[in-house]
Amino acid sequence: MLTLSPKAPFLYKPQNPNPKTQHYKQQINGIYCKSELQSERGLEFETGETFFRHESAKGRDLGVLAASLYNQSKGKLRVLDALCGCGIRSLRYLMESKADFVLANDANDEHRRVILDNLKRVDRGFGDERKWAVTHLDANRVLSECYLQKDFFDLIDIDSFGSDISLFLRSAMNTLSFDGLLYVTSTDGHSSGGHHPDHTLAAYGAYVRPMPFSNEVGLRMLIGGAVREASVLGYYITPLFSYYSYHGPVFRVMLRVNRGKLLENRHYGFITYCNKCGDSQEFSWAELGQISCSCNGSHVFPRTLVRS
Ligand SMILES: C[S@@+](CC[C@H](N)C(=O)[O-])C[C@H]1O[C@@H](n2cnc3c(N)ncnc32)[C@H](O)[C@@H]1O
Ligand SMILES: [Zn+2]
Repeated sequence: MLTLSPKAPFLYKPQNPNPKTQHYKQQINGIYCKSELQSERGLEFETGETFFRHESAKGRDLGVLAASLYNQSKGKLRVLDALCGCGIRSLRYLMESKADFVLANDANDEHRRVILDNLKRVDRGFGDERKWAVTHLDANRVLSECYLQKDFFDLIDIDSFGSDISLFLRSAMNTLSFDGLLYVTSTDGHSSGGHHPDHTLAAYGAYVRPMPFSNEVGLRMLIGGAVREASVLGYYITPLFSYYSYHGPVFRVMLRVNRGKLLENRHYGFITYCNKCGDSQEFSWAELGQISCSCNGSHVFPRTLVRS
């Protein structure tokens, strides 16, 4: 069991900080709310100066529902809310999904008072009965520390900006319980729109180019990145649901992670889009050299790595 005292985050001076994860104090396409009482599904909470969007309520609903079902079927639920903002997800996992324990983490320690005030609505408890804890570490750090202490979680929620999720996938999978749930988010509309193919290649292993169904591709890109990371670790993933929302835009995917190999790579391949006739097809890796369209092969480009 992990024991993190409130002071633990301040013991570490970041070494070699990753420039991609240093923007947690900046405003990124969102709303840093002034402190006032908010309400979501009957729960009251504060947002302080944290990043909070009412439009994300459905995404939170879906996480809470999946967590509740997990709890009902397994009889246990430990949640790691790795980028918790004001802590609304953590509060909802505790109150609505009846989580046994929630670790609420946000790298920005200026959010601490707001998070604590929100979570205080649930009795904190002591020792093995402790219901929640709050830390302020980089998400990779908190995930890795939990993994090193063999402190595994049944659901890990990573509500990150842009394409940052690709930075956290591996440590999240390592820290997940057997048959656990990983709830991941991307808000990178430029990538799903095919405007940064070199970036999507680095982040997700998918060379995405512009096409008419970019919102669907954004979800597939995210799943594909997770499939790739899972394979490296000897895991396979099962997507449980995908949710696209135009605000942001936001791409959310709930994945179940199990130990084992991806079965025959059946769902990991290429989607093509023909610029001439608009036809779209899927191809496996084995068919890579044969990609063409019946109208005229020269206009077809492989677009992304995940299909059906
Ligand atoms: C999208 S907001 C979270 C919103 C919250 N989950 C909700 O549902 O309202 C992202 C949060 O991640 C934090 N953050 C950004 N980069 C981080 C990192 N590398 N590690 C941990 N937290 C980070 C920011 O401070 C911010 O509060
Ligand atoms: Zn064609």
